[in-house]
Amino acid sequence: MSKVKDKSLEEEGRRALGWAGENMPILASIRERFEEEKPFTGLSVGVAMHLEQKTGVLLQTLQAGGAEISASSCNPLTTDDAVAAALSEEMDIFAWSGQSKEEYYSCIESVIRSAPKITVDDGGDLIFMLHSKYPAMLDDVMGGCEETTTGVIRLKAMSQDGELKVPIIAVNNAYSKYLFDNRYGSGQSVIDAIASATNMLIAGKTVVVVGYGWVGRGVAMRLRGMGARVIVVETAASLNQQKQSGFHRGLEALYDGNWVMSMEEAAAMGDIFITATGNKHVISKHHFKKMKENVILANAGHFNNEIDVDSLQAMSKESKEIMPNLVRYRLKNGKGILLLSEGRLVNLARPSGHGHPIEIMDGSFAVQALCVEYLAKSSDSLKPEVYDVPSDLDEEVARLALAAQGIALQKPTPQQIEYVSAWEEGT
Ligand SMILES: NC(=O)c1ccc[n+]([C@@H]2O[C@H](COP(=O)([O-])OP(=O)(O)OC[C@H]3O[C@@H](n4cnc5c(N)ncnc54)[C@H](O)[C@@H]3O)[C@@H](O)[C@H]2O)c1
Repeated sequence: MSKVKDKSLEEEGRRALGWAGENMPILASIRERFEEEKPFTGLSVGVAMHLEQKTGVLLQTLQAGGAEISASSCNPLTTDDAVAAALSEEMDIFAWSGQSKEEYYSCIESVIRSAPKITVDDGGDLIFMLHSKYPAMLDDVMGGCEETTTGVIRLKAMSQDGELKVPIIAVNNAYSKYLFDNRYGSGQSVIDAIASATNMLIAGKTVVVVGYGWVGRGVAMRLRGMGARVIVVETAASLNQQKQSGFHRGLEALYDGNWVMSMEEAAAMGDIFITATGNKHVISKHHFKKMKENVILANAGHFNNEIDVDSLQAMSKESKEIMPNLVRYRLKNGKGILLLSEGRLVNLARPSGHGHPIEIMDGSFAVQALCVEYLAKSSDSLKPEVYDVPSDLDEEVARLALAAQGIALQKPTPQQIEYVSAWEEGT
């Protein structure tokens, strides 16, 4: 039933899953409980996520709770073929790296054929396809979980237009997710992937980070620590979910120690450009014209439209793969521009991208696992809207993450609890 690239990679995949599992104590504790309680018995769960080792441990955790899993990727480049081979021995997997657009969508359709009761998305492609091509099947869908900022934005837009037909939990919007995954996870994995694909030094480079949201903040923070000169580009509008305008974020970027300017100015100064906006064409035609020779472009946002790759192609007389995931476009005026991973998520595009560090995904996927359980138990009381993660569940993951590191926080005294809730004068 499964369709993967190479079944003979199974042993390698099993080792990768073992190593991740060993370092995901929060999911391990949830798995133990799921094994006993079996909250998903007989429930089919359809998944479209980056299929790599940490996701594999999440899928095994859900399966341990009785779920029947059918999974594809949420990006044509990000499947770890060894992990997919190992997982395909345990559940239905439809994914391989380097898919064409048609193959990518046909794998999502294979997941849909399993008639999922609950969906788990990263970017929303599975739940969108159910709405657009198979709306009748939505009657049997209890709800879905969405992992990332871009997916949540799309689903909220659908909900506002009255087009959303099932309840969705915005996993991304849990503090235990975006504070750590988007910020510290991307902060490490995006830079890792750029260094791994190019083998170039970060220190001394001028790096332009476009978008100072959770991802951009994390990436800029780590770049500064590695000795880069960081320029942040923000937008003169309010385009993010937290309702902080680009002006707030631009000011925050300045006070954090970055240079802040428009893309028009930054285009001529950067050696490396990293986009993290969830927006379209934030680096475009007129910017390419201003760039220096051999600049490196990388995207950390969900979709491959942040860098206007079509214009880059149209402006070029040739393009050549220099190393895996690194292509040099030669503009008609002779200038070289290097593009990483076709402008797709640089930190997840294989072989140079390995996704976020394991410990980070332990927290993010613990939120996912608990949200799938929440949907399985509470979907009857939910309307077709986008819901935030229940705050007790969100807090539980942070508590478990600290406990896994052997850290206990200071308990407040009864007097302290009373003091902070009183309105009298505080002497
Ligand atoms: N690479 C990863 O592993 C990873 C992890 C988490 C999220 N994401 C994706 O990264 C993107 C950003 O996520 P986030 O959580 O930081 O979102 P966010 O909403 O917190 O931040 C996005 C920022 O981009 C700014 N922005 C929007 N349009 C802009 C423009 N034209 N020019 C400059 N700035 C602009 C917004 O003002 C905002 O501050 C999303 O697509 C999300 O799905 C990627």
